[in-house]
Parts: sequence; C-alpha cells; structure tokens
Amino acid sequence: MKIIKQIDKEILNLETCLVPTMGALHEGHLELIKEAKILKLTIIVSIFINPAQFNNKEDFAKYPKTIEKDIEILSKLKVDYLFLPDVDYIYPLEDFEKIDSGDLGNKYEGQSRPGHFDGVLTVVNRLFELIKPKAAIFGKKDAQQLFLIKNLVTEKKYRIRIIEIRTVRDTSGLALSSRNLLLSEEGKKTASNIKEILDQTKKNFLISKDIQYSLNEVKDKFFLKNLKIDYLEILDYETFSKPTKKSKSYIIVIAAYVEGVRLIDNLDFQLEETL
Ligand code: PAJ
Repeated sequence: MKIIKQIDKEILNLETCLVPTMGALHEGHLELIKEAKILKLTIIVSIFINPAQFNNKEDFAKYPKTIEKDIEILSKLKVDYLFLPDVDYIYPLEDFEKIDSGDLGNKYEGQSRPGHFDGVLTVVNRLFELIKPKAAIFGKKDAQQLFLIKNLVTEKKYRIRIIEIRTVRDTSGLALSSRNLLLSEEGKKTASNIKEILDQTKKNFLISKDIQYSLNEVKDKFFLKNLKIDYLEILDYETFSKPTKKSKSYIIVIAAYVEGVRLIDNLDFQLEETL
C-alpha cells in the first residue's frame, strides 16, 4: 500500500475506486473496502477529518483518531493507495468549489448541524475532482449524506458509479460508527435502543399507516433518561422528504444523543412488507 498526500498523474492514469472516510476504521468501513475489491479497480481509501463538516469545534477536536491502527488495517487488506491529504491541499486559499447542499441540506441532520452537508458535499466534490474515480463507495448508514451525494453526481453529470453498502451493526443492533469509540459499555447498551426504536416505528407504521401515531407511540415508549432523541421522522425513500399518498418506499431517520455523543441511524422499507 502506498501512502500519498497529493494526487499526481500516476493516479489520474489509473481506473480507480474511491472509498472516502474520516478514519477510526471499523467493520462498516471494511465492508465498503470489501465491495471495492470486487470491482477490480485500483482502490484508494482516503482518510481526512474534514473540518468543514463540523459545525462544532469541540466535536471536531474530540473526533476519534486511530491513524496507526488504520494504516495497519488497510495495508493488511492490500488497499492500493491510502490518501492522507493535508487541510491546505484539500482547501487551498482559492480555486476550489464550495458546494451548497440546498434545502434538503438544512433539514433533519442538517437542521441540527448547520453547514454540515455543505461541508460534506464540498469535500466529496473536491475528492471527485482531484481523483476522478470511476466508482466511489458510501454507506447507507449516512442516508441523507448518500442521497445528497447521488444528487450531486447527477447535477454535475459526473461519470462516477456510486455504490451503496448496507449498514453494518454489532450483535446488539447498534450501527457501527467511529463515534461509538466515545461511548462507555453502558452507553453502548443504551444506544442499542436506537435500532429498536427504528424497528418499532416501522412496525407501528405498517400496522397503522399513520405517521404521527407511529412516531408518538415510540417516543412515549422509549422515553429514556440516557437517550435523547433529536429527531425521528418517517420519510419517502425516493425523495427524502415528507411522504405523500403515492409513496411506496419509506425511510425512518433518527438522531439521538447518548452520553453527549450524537448517533444517527435509519431503516428503509417497502409498504408491501409483511411484519
Ligand atoms: P465516515 O463517518 O468515516 O464514514 C465513511 C463511510 O463509511 C461513509 O460512506 C459511511 O456511510 C460509511 N459507514 C460508516 N458507518 C457504517 C456502517 N456501520 N455500515 C456501513 N457503512 C458505514 O461519512 C463520512 O466519513 C464523511 O462524511 C465523508 C463521506 C468521508 C466525507 O468527509
């Protein structure tokens, strides 16, 4: 594995698959890399803790960093390149495009984290422009992020295949996340309620078809001292906005705080699904 800090002609001459990350790698990230292996393209994993997507300085400062362990994992997996750019390479003083994530960028996750999705789209766009990959792989765990990235690719008419990977969970149902490293064992147990909240909301909705009832019932049932729900919404999977009578596929999105750590998760399903 070659560790690079800049993208040169050598990379641009290759057909690459990009796997963007912020490091503190876990099994979820590894699932993305496993998928990349199937494509038979040159694999570039990037690790860049993108300051532009943190609206909160403290959150940025305490974001987990395990770079030595990450390098060991990636070289064992025989990834071709690890791209470890410096901030001023990604964000030079001029000559890079800032992306506006639009209306959807200010909703749900974006409402609680102003500017977050502008920062995500700006860095992803910058990585696409620098590396010009044939394919890029993202997790469904960050559903709103994935939705906005797919829109960006369509709008910019990039010829980049976007591949999406199912959410990897631990045995308790907790979605793997670098932020889980900030939780105590007790905190992880509490956080595993998030998956139960999603499952129960889906169940309620399939039975009642009533969004407000489905959400309220769950919010009452899971009124936990140590788990503070920031938002819980049932959305149309195709549009990532409020469902209409025509909606057939849905996504339930949630953000919650456990021990001061912000955790997000989601669950998508079809209306025809049986319980
Ligand atoms: P990060 O949180 O490191 O995640 C990198 C990729 O791994 C994202 O596509 C994310 O959706 C995916 N991922 C994270 N947890 C997962 C899980 N449990 N199962 C499956 N996939 C999972 O997302 C980011 O970084 C950044 O916003 C980034 C896109 C790199 C831009 O800075």
